[in-house]
Amino acid sequence: MGVSLLLSRGVGYPWRAGEGRSGSVEIYRAYEEVIIDEGKRNNRIFIFRRTRFTTLKMPGKKVCIVGSGNWGSSIAKIIGHNVKASNRFDPMVNMWVYEEIIDGRKLTEVINTDHENVKYLPGHKLPRNVVAIPEITEAVKGAKILVFVIPHQFIGKLCDQMKPHITEGTIGISLIKGIDEGPDGLKLISDIIREKLEIEVSVLMGANIASEVADEKFCETTIGARNEANGVIFKELLQTPNFRITVVEESDTVELCGALKNIVAVGAGFCDGLGFGDNTKAAVIRLGLMEMIAFAKLFRKDQVSSTTFLESCGVADLITTCYGGRNRKVAEAFVKTSKSITELEAEMLNGQKLQGPQTSAEVYKLLQKRDMVNKFPLFSAVYQICFEGKEVKEFITCLQNHPEHM
Ligand SMILES: NC(=O)c1ccc[n+]([C@@H]2O[C@H](COP(=O)([O-])OP(=O)(O)OC[C@H]3O[C@@H](n4cnc5c(N)ncnc54)[C@H](O)[C@@H]3O)[C@@H](O)[C@H]2O)c1
Repeated sequence: MGVSLLLSRGVGYPWRAGEGRSGSVEIYRAYEEVIIDEGKRNNRIFIFRRTRFTTLKMPGKKVCIVGSGNWGSSIAKIIGHNVKASNRFDPMVNMWVYEEIIDGRKLTEVINTDHENVKYLPGHKLPRNVVAIPEITEAVKGAKILVFVIPHQFIGKLCDQMKPHITEGTIGISLIKGIDEGPDGLKLISDIIREKLEIEVSVLMGANIASEVADEKFCETTIGARNEANGVIFKELLQTPNFRITVVEESDTVELCGALKNIVAVGAGFCDGLGFGDNTKAAVIRLGLMEMIAFAKLFRKDQVSSTTFLESCGVADLITTCYGGRNRKVAEAFVKTSKSITELEAEMLNGQKLQGPQTSAEVYKLLQKRDMVNKFPLFSAVYQICFEGKEVKEFITCLQNHPEHM
């Protein structure tokens, strides 16, 4: 009779983790079995080694949406839906809400019971897995993916509050359109987030008027991601059949497009207010685009390719903002009513914030510093009309003398 001996050496062997195709984490445990068989076959010894693996489902990454305005709430609809369809993400989403009282009730309470942001996106139900939280420190707890979507003037203070709760490996994406001034010139909003939170930040910008996205009307958008893997994660989090995403590497150019187009939209609104037609609007769009490209090339040290301006974040966003959008609308009213921009913002926007005039102020400061005001007549005229009492009809004079035609 032969003797069969089994030596099993599973416990204590190393673990190895890898990412499964579905986004789950697979844990591999190596072990070997040695069988010594002094069996029937002339006392020959057979040795077998095998490696087995087990698949364990790890919890998905928690997403926190930082902001809940018109765009924040529209994007919450998409994210709430998408996280349920993928095991890469935790199915519950936190949404930080700047607390306000609406008809005697807290906005967070309204969102969590009625599943509707009645102030900023009325008429649209938010998915039930999106939970409104008024304290930012509570909202970001455990989150590995942060989606920033607030008016840009509030970002610095909010990041300071978030910082102690940010854990290693957290990544962010900014949907915020605006820029700031830094000690060396231009400061992007994503730069502020990167510096304050020390995380990798991608951006998403495109021809995306929030109410149309919420209505699920087809559109495109652009993600700028320096890290390709992050681009893949954000595309999975945000793409839908009616919200199609292209990912490009030039994140800074994408972000600059999103900020600068709001200045051009104010110019387009002036033309509407003055009674000019579509030809003039087209000229404003084209000259505005030329200034956007020139500004990006002058003020950004990294690569700026003109082709990025052909993506949704560039020319498409510019067109939609110059026809629809709040900057154009308020600028038209500015011409027709002679009220100040601040008055009109309060009267017309129901708590929403205007980005174009403020961005023109940041840009103007930089142009002055570099003695380049004359090279950017459209950007400069928007600032001077909004804040320095320049006559609106002078806007056309600026276009007539544009360096593009000289
Ligand atoms: N609405 C759009 O169509 C659209 C589309 C693309 C990008 N964006 C960009 O997204 C960003 C957010 O815009 P939105 O439309 O979601 O916001 P919004 O202008 O509709 O709403 C203002 C938001 O600011 C919050 N808020 C007010 N006071 C605050 C304070 N003191 N501190 C912090 N938050 C305060 C409000 O709660 C509200 O969520 C902006 O940068 C905007 O340019 C907007």
